[in-house]
Amino acid sequence: MHNFDEIVLAASAAFAATDDPDALEQIKATFLGRNGRVTELLKGLAKLPPDERKTAGAAINRSKDAVEAALNARREALRRMALAARLAEEALDVTLPGRGQARGGLHPVTRTLERIEGLFRSIGFDVADGPEIEADFQNFTALNTPADHPARSMHDTFYLQDTAGGVAEGVLLRTHTSPIQVRYMQAHVARYADREQMPEIRVIAPGRVYRVDSDATHSPMFHQVEGLWIGEKVSLADLKGVIGDFLRRFFESDDLQVRFRPSFFPFTEPSAEIDMAFMDGALKGRWLEIAGCGMVHPNVLRHVNIDPEQYIGFAFGMGPDRLTMLRYGVNDLRLFYDGDLRFLRQFV
Ligand code: DAH
Repeated sequence: MHNFDEIVLAASAAFAATDDPDALEQIKATFLGRNGRVTELLKGLAKLPPDERKTAGAAINRSKDAVEAALNARREALRRMALAARLAEEALDVTLPGRGQARGGLHPVTRTLERIEGLFRSIGFDVADGPEIEADFQNFTALNTPADHPARSMHDTFYLQDTAGGVAEGVLLRTHTSPIQVRYMQAHVARYADREQMPEIRVIAPGRVYRVDSDATHSPMFHQVEGLWIGEKVSLADLKGVIGDFLRRFFESDDLQVRFRPSFFPFTEPSAEIDMAFMDGALKGRWLEIAGCGMVHPNVLRHVNIDPEQYIGFAFGMGPDRLTMLRYGVNDLRLFYDGDLRFLRQFV
């Protein structure tokens, strides 16, 4: 009898000692298999005297049932453990926020461009754009820029290759937004064949421009905003008024000074460089160049069939990257174009 209880205890202990379902089945064989301990007991029955067989047989069967019950209990326990482990591993937290929740934001230079557009629209300017791959005529010739002008050199300008690998005749990445002046005036003139009906031209044109240039304050791609006002009585005084007003509204400050410094551009005469200085703050008193400008050269008007005897106007080309740096206090232009989100997120 004792022997039977001992087998049940030994089986239960052996089953409990493993966590592995395969190992459990192997252990089962050592008790219930063909040569297992319980099976051996049953085989031993034959050797007992007939009158003892009945009670012994019943006891062995009880042990066998007990071993099987212990086995099944352990199987069930292991199955539950495996299920619990899998549930824990594949747990789905439905309260987590979903992916794709990151909000985009506008690039600081884009914000500046939109701001500039809004301010100029508010004083009656149209907003135009033009192709970044530009023709030699619009980029240079029509802008009174002669063939020997340094801006036309290979060191300054990205020319496009033709399919044979040579320089494509007259096709380049625009070096400034000034060709949009030309395109806008050409379209305007075509639209108002009757000059009597032709309204004034007031337009700004923001966009990307390209030059062979790269350091802390120059990037091979940068932005410009072109401005143009052509009418019958447009003067330098209007230019000063427009630019001064614009800057005060852009920086939301009356504490800034603007000065016009004589300069040269082929497409304006006279020409000037526009500098500004804050009268307060960290940059107080430092003059910063922010644009080129001038009265549109008569040759430019002639190139687009506008009579320079009747029409006159000003143009300017502004650096919005520079304005963005000033507005946000950023000192390296390249930061805007590195695509580093840690930098860009600050402006959202
Ligand atoms: N296009 C000139 C540049 O890229 C800037 C400029 C100067 C534009 C004078 C103008 C202007 O319209 O009148 O440097």
